[in-house]
Amino acid sequence: MNPIVLVVGARPNFMKIAPIQEELDLRGIPNILLHTGQHYDDNMSRVFFDDLNMKKPDIYLGIGSGSHATQTAKVMVEFEQVCLEHKPSMVVVVGDVNSTLACSLVSAKLNIKCAHVEAGLRSFDRKMPEEINRIVTDSICDILLTPSDDGDENLLKEGVDEYKIHMVGNVMIDSLLNNLDIAKNLDILSKYSLSKDYALVTLHRPSNVDDKSVFSDIISALEELSGDIEFVFPMHPRTRKMAEKFHLYNRIESIPGMKITEPAGYLEFISLMSKSELVLTDSGGLQEETTALGIPCLTIRENTERPVTITQGTNQLVGTNPEKIVQLGQEALQGNGKAGQIPKFWDGKTATRIVDVLVQTIGD
Ligand code: UD1
Repeated sequence: MNPIVLVVGARPNFMKIAPIQEELDLRGIPNILLHTGQHYDDNMSRVFFDDLNMKKPDIYLGIGSGSHATQTAKVMVEFEQVCLEHKPSMVVVVGDVNSTLACSLVSAKLNIKCAHVEAGLRSFDRKMPEEINRIVTDSICDILLTPSDDGDENLLKEGVDEYKIHMVGNVMIDSLLNNLDIAKNLDILSKYSLSKDYALVTLHRPSNVDDKSVFSDIISALEELSGDIEFVFPMHPRTRKMAEKFHLYNRIESIPGMKITEPAGYLEFISLMSKSELVLTDSGGLQEETTALGIPCLTIRENTERPVTITQGTNQLVGTNPEKIVQLGQEALQGNGKAGQIPKFWDGKTATRIVDVLVQTIGD
């Protein structure tokens, strides 16, 4: 059997591919791990391979940063050569980053079966680059592996054939559950000089950090909340770059109780998250991980492609209005955060269900 090519490119991809590769290896199914190099800093990439016990990528494309067109096009040119050389029996892409789109497009044009893990999610906000990536990827993939029922509903509404859709659950939660005990045992409070109660902050969406007035509004909310809680803020490179450009970095740094750090590795990050009182974020993955951990999450966005974290989980959408962020933040810190339940199939066994579907489809 020709190998299955597993594609990773950016930070949120690694924890989704790790359990799938492990399951393929367990079943002796040949696979190639390909890293596009969309993220390349050690703390955005290599540390995840170490923390997740992943093998080094078999193929590294070294694409790096660039405009959307440049990044996507460079991945496509390089990935086409890989596919022509290795003739994969299938390509597996995850999530919604530019590498996901680029590799699914190449596979479709070469008539190689492509499976999309995390299919069907929709924010219905086409200003988000990820929304375009999701819509195009889902429209050309042969196997659509959804994390929750809303994904199936969205795809069916878009006219996708039902036989392509498989609700397998959330594979990122496999990684979370596999690593939670080790993470919890890390002495994260002393490493980051935190007192017992703190909130974890992450921001990186262009709509929040590439716009000075939106970014300033979010900082005002953190300033206001600093009377109630300390913060740890592992800062994404994009966010640091924009904070420096807008001369906002010093203002963030001088918020009382604020600790800005470099982006954290996987184990340290889930340790920080699991011990926090509250998470303030614009990340997609954190909305899901906080739901799985039962930690209140305020999502600093106007919409979410992960509605199940709101209908069932601990997530609340707060937008970027400082008053609303402060009000819901204070409620959560007083113990009135949103309670939640764990969505169906967020049980740590998603990779098994995914590989069952892949094997069956390759056999067809
Ligand atoms: C990308 C994904 C986003 C995902 C996020 C997680 C797309 C369109 N966006 O956004 O969906 O939530 O990853 O992090 O694919 N940079 C570094 N070092 C790195 C990587 C990036 O310094 O290792 C800096 C560069 O200045 C780069 C900027 O960050 O220009 C943005 O990187 P990019 O990959 O374009 O998008 P992200 O904002 O990381």
